[in-house]
Amino acid sequence: MRAMISDKPGAPESLELRDMPSKPVGKGEVRVAVHAAGVNFPDTLIIADKYQFKPPRPFSPGHEVGGVVTELGEGVSDYAVGDRVIGMIGHGGYAEEVVIPTANLLPMPANMSFEEGAAFTMTYGTSYYALKQRGDLRPGETLLVLGAAGGVGLTAVELGALMGAKVIAAVGSDEKMEICRKYGATMFVNYTKEKMRDKVKDLTDGKGADVIYDAVGGDAFDESIRCINWLGRLLVIGFASGRIPSLPANLALLKSCDVRGVFYGAWRAREPKGALQNFSEMFDWVRQGKIKPHISMTFPLEKAADAMNALLSRKATGKVVIKVR
Ligand SMILES: NC(=O)c1ccc[n+]([C@@H]2O[C@H](COP(=O)([O-])OP(=O)(O)OC[C@H]3O[C@@H](n4cnc5c(N)ncnc54)[C@H](OP(=O)(O)O)[C@@H]3O)[C@@H](O)[C@H]2O)c1
Repeated sequence: MRAMISDKPGAPESLELRDMPSKPVGKGEVRVAVHAAGVNFPDTLIIADKYQFKPPRPFSPGHEVGGVVTELGEGVSDYAVGDRVIGMIGHGGYAEEVVIPTANLLPMPANMSFEEGAAFTMTYGTSYYALKQRGDLRPGETLLVLGAAGGVGLTAVELGALMGAKVIAAVGSDEKMEICRKYGATMFVNYTKEKMRDKVKDLTDGKGADVIYDAVGGDAFDESIRCINWLGRLLVIGFASGRIPSLPANLALLKSCDVRGVFYGAWRAREPKGALQNFSEMFDWVRQGKIKPHISMTFPLEKAADAMNALLSRKATGKVVIKVR
């Protein structure tokens, strides 16, 4: 089977297309023929040895896939050959097939395409956990999303609006505002040309945002903590800008605000039932047509480096997906 392989730490161009042997299917596992693989920012980190987990090489990046079950391991009764599934695998998705423990599988809703299935778990899973369990977002509150047109950002806009919040989308270019409007944002900041703290205060009658969803870090974090409301919650999601910011503790004191870390993968491992409940609620919204992943670009497997570079160059909106079949 063909796979994009990381053999040494490096940039997306370091990946090589190779023929790899199929892995045996163990107890409690299934083989999945991959139709589509989602591209996520952490994929660019894991191949550069800059991620929390460092898989032994050679390995394929790719945290999530949409595909079809082709073989069942011993003891598997809850899935059948031919089932359309979503796999959450950490790495290994940029490949024609993967072997996945059933605990890391979800049945794909019938109205989802393989591309949408591969574009779902990481972004929606992270954002719903962030807004619901960590952010305690309530209807009527103001939610400021940084990097709002990006992978996780756009799902935070969509879910936040669905949860009844007034959403301010903060983006790096005016062109990215339109997609955020389509997904439920009603107010906008371009942080490359406007002073975010002033604009957000203007938009909120001087109060600031109740919940801030920050997947960007760096200067955007520094600005946003200065426009958080009294008792606000700043959710630390990631550092796409490349700089991990530091927090002057007096700012937390002055605003009586909370800075709350969000590590979705670790939460899902610790509280699998809570994570399944979140997916069940979101899949109901998918079936009702209330949420739908936005896929701005697709690439064939051998062009995985171009797919990753689309993220790194800030050209993509929503999700980038690799179509394997
Ligand atoms: N905590 C968790 O559990 C968790 C889960 C998933 C992802 N993450 C993290 O969340 C972050 C975003 O992931 P993603 O998959 O949504 O990425 P993405 O699709 O590339 O979105 C990132 C956004 O950040 C903005 N950005 C600002 N400076 C940037 C730069 N120098 N390079 C690239 N983007 C920049 C871009 O928007 P503008 O151009 O509009 O500024 C872009 O849309 C990553 O750090 C990732 O590791 C965390």
